[in-house]
Amino acid sequence: MFQHIEPYAGDPILTLNEAFGKDPRPHKINLSIGIYFDDAGKLPVMRAVREAETAMLQSIGPRSYQPMEGAANYRSAVQQLLFGADHEAVLSKRIATVQTIGGSGGLKVGGDFLKRYFPHAPVWVSDPTWDNHRAMFEGAGFAVNTYPYYDAATGALNFAGMLQVFKGDGDVKNSSAIAAGSIVLMHACCHNPTGVDLNAAQWAELIPVIKARGLIPYLDIAYQGFGDGIAEDTFALQALTAAGISFFCASSFSKSFSLYGERCGALSVVCPDAAQAELVLGQMRATVRKNYSSPPTHGGQIIARVLQTPALHAQWANELSGMRERIKLMRQRLHAVLQAKLPGKDFSYFLTQRGMFSYTGLSAEQVDRLREDHAVYLVRSGRMCVAGLNSGNVEATAVAMAAVLA
Ligand code: LMR
Repeated sequence: MFQHIEPYAGDPILTLNEAFGKDPRPHKINLSIGIYFDDAGKLPVMRAVREAETAMLQSIGPRSYQPMEGAANYRSAVQQLLFGADHEAVLSKRIATVQTIGGSGGLKVGGDFLKRYFPHAPVWVSDPTWDNHRAMFEGAGFAVNTYPYYDAATGALNFAGMLQVFKGDGDVKNSSAIAAGSIVLMHACCHNPTGVDLNAAQWAELIPVIKARGLIPYLDIAYQGFGDGIAEDTFALQALTAAGISFFCASSFSKSFSLYGERCGALSVVCPDAAQAELVLGQMRATVRKNYSSPPTHGGQIIARVLQTPALHAQWANELSGMRERIKLMRQRLHAVLQAKLPGKDFSYFLTQRGMFSYTGLSAEQVDRLREDHAVYLVRSGRMCVAGLNSGNVEATAVAMAAVLA
């Protein structure tokens, strides 16, 4: 019956992480999956999370189904964190937010929703982007194209190329220009996989183009707080809202709360007014019902409790700030050792790229050598999870990288 089913080739990130787990070499270093490990190489349980969860255990109550859109306190906390409690769009109730199964669940619900109401709009993603973006939107039935983003020669953003394609200066038919009304998927901060973000001036130049051409922005914000700060990392959301643009935003707490397995995310759609937000919310609820009925309770309630208890909120922000600063320190240390070992090469991209990831520029073959000869795991695209570096492995990583680059 199932003989015709082809074997699964595996996922470039998740399967690699599984391979790391099976690697018997004691000195192995995992810089593959986007998970933050602390300086002892451990997956942290944040103190704010532990306190909130401990308090919850004191008053265990019945657990019915959640509403299709998720818990009201969680959805409200999401909006306040993304936009600010006093933001006009929040106060006027023109943002439709549903609790989703991770940021991925948000992307999927939004993808299905868009396919229903904008069935002919192609989706454009950055070149490169998170491996699963293309798969998710193709899975929702969209044609997916790529716009220029990363400049391998400089390790920075190819903003001129990106802007040109957004402006539609090219041939729409051969997919070298974005047609008006297309869906443009963008990373709000800490671009995955490159660590290369637009700066404020670049957003300011891009946003009028998005507006003039009636593009539908779809932001993915999975690393809020890992770039410049919790509020600072929402710059793109603020700027799009201020420009009066309606847009989609999938968000995730996996990294920022170190609650990966709880699958806590959201989809927020900024609408022109409260009446339209109500319509959008209704059909998002229907989309959730058709996919998985309703989201789970526990993780979302931990997050809502932390964000809505001032002392825990402050503690969480402080812990997240420590994580962000530790990643920056690791960037500096990696850069210093590599630069000393290979003075002829420029590794300054490690300092300018931000968030959990850096695009090392290593070829797939060099990544394979790193893994096979030195037990250092990177994704084959050359993406390094800088958040996997620590005082005990950063030197060895730099030495191994220098060896494969020499
Ligand atoms: C990553 O990019 O490594 C993470 O977002 C984990 C994943 O699901 O791919």
